[in-house]
Amino acid sequence: MTADEMKKQAAYAALEHIDTDGVVGVGTGSTVNHFIDALATIKGKIEGAVSSSIVSTKRLEDHGIKVFDLNEVSKVAVYVDGADESDDNLHLIKGGGGALTREKIIAAAADKFVCIADASKLVGVLGKFPLPVEVVPMSRSYVAREIVKMGGQPVYRENFITDNSNVIIDVHGWDITEAIKLEKELNNIVGVVTNGLFAMRPADVLLLGSEEGTKTVYAK
Ligand code: 5RP
Repeated sequence: MTADEMKKQAAYAALEHIDTDGVVGVGTGSTVNHFIDALATIKGKIEGAVSSSIVSTKRLEDHGIKVFDLNEVSKVAVYVDGADESDDNLHLIKGGGGALTREKIIAAAADKFVCIADASKLVGVLGKFPLPVEVVPMSRSYVAREIVKMGGQPVYRENFITDNSNVIIDVHGWDITEAIKLEKELNNIVGVVTNGLFAMRPADVLLLGSEEGTKTVYAK
């Protein structure tokens, strides 16, 4: 079974968590692309979606799913998104696709966050995947110097602009055992818009596609 087949399996399993008649929060990435295709099979039963990126909005609309602005909706019952890494607290690293800020906003607004991934994404310690940090462009060098003081190795993501017209610094070299503390410290650096640690608002459930079928993981 390929990683993509595992992603697809987890994505279709997420349909069981969708409340019909409501607005579904939709993340970004290759796993979420499968979820959008799955959502299209029940599109007559949902009101529509709120989307975390321009690319997901286009895929949703191509399927004929109505996309609302988050400000137009009073409730997002469920948010479904992928991750680059998860630990067993369901603290996540996200932002490999650069959509972390809008993803974090919808995750915060949602009642329930269902994370979908292939089995390789569950790790013992977060940080092997470089941690994305979205920054206002003029603050890039300053933020990078502050991250070096914190022991990280910042790498500017070349030729990439976010949907919010900002840039990304990917931070290598951290073993992240205190994710909530690090998430807050990074947020406190002036110029940082968002960082890719989803620990203050972790996933509520993790669906992992695997050879043995979809595994459902709750925070330990
Ligand atoms: C995008 C993300 C994605 O959820 C993350 O990068 C996982 O992507 P994929 O589903 O392609 O493995 O955070 O900003």
